[in-house]
Amino acid sequence: MNRIPVVAGNWKMNKTPAEAAELARALVSAVGGLLGVEVVLCPPFVSLHVVGEIVKGTRIGLGAQNLHWEKSGAFTGEVSAPMLAGWCAHVIVGHSERRQYFGETDQTVNKKAKAALAHKLTPIICVGETLSEYEAGETSEVVTRQVWQAYADLNRDEAERTLIAYEPVWAIGTGKAATGVGANAVIGLNIRGIIADLFGSATADGLRVLYGGSVTPANIVEFMAQPDIDGGLVGGASLKAPDFEAIVKAAAQAKA
Ligand code: 13P
Repeated sequence: MNRIPVVAGNWKMNKTPAEAAELARALVSAVGGLLGVEVVLCPPFVSLHVVGEIVKGTRIGLGAQNLHWEKSGAFTGEVSAPMLAGWCAHVIVGHSERRQYFGETDQTVNKKAKAALAHKLTPIICVGETLSEYEAGETSEVVTRQVWQAYADLNRDEAERTLIAYEPVWAIGTGKAATGVGANAVIGLNIRGIIADLFGSATADGLRVLYGGSVTPANIVEFMAQPDIDGGLVGGASLKAPDFEAIVKAAAQAKA
């Protein structure tokens, strides 16, 4: 199965709109025409418009970091799928920081994924175990449950329109990335394996699964060398144009 790599930059709560524009311009000149890789920038909501204008007409795509599952209503501070649909094509769903600090559960992740899909957005569904779960040897169980519940009641066509990111929580922002082999094992067994159980092996083979957690220009090559890893969801290193450029180019080359 020839899966085109994806590198997504999760800018988290960083950059003012002016700073976001500056970073987006640098990335357009660095990788805006690069073939063999899909690049998605995920700035904060308030910068979607400005970054969208800058990446328009290039090969760089745009994503949001979150959404609400309802279309509209009295949900102060929230943003819905139909609002995002005119602006971007991707949306991160169930990032561990949302699960940890904003009470997101496997059930709300499922609702958000469905809302995104209903409005033709590609959800980047995040899963991954915490440090204590990792230390307790519960990685398989946790990741399996998260995948199972995120995809509950989705049909095969919908499942094929998703991306998954495996982000072990202990590797996020810590500088302690997983090993390529370790991440590949979880992705092969507990992500692609569960998708195969739910939707069949053809869907599982076609699904693109990213690794996230302290990805750098130095370690991306190791991750991309793994058979089940199709790209990266990059936090800190996506805020520095030269680092993100190096990661994107390495990902494109790895599977060329
Ligand atoms: P870091 O790359 O900063 O570890 O963040 C990873 C992440 O959470 C991407 O969503």
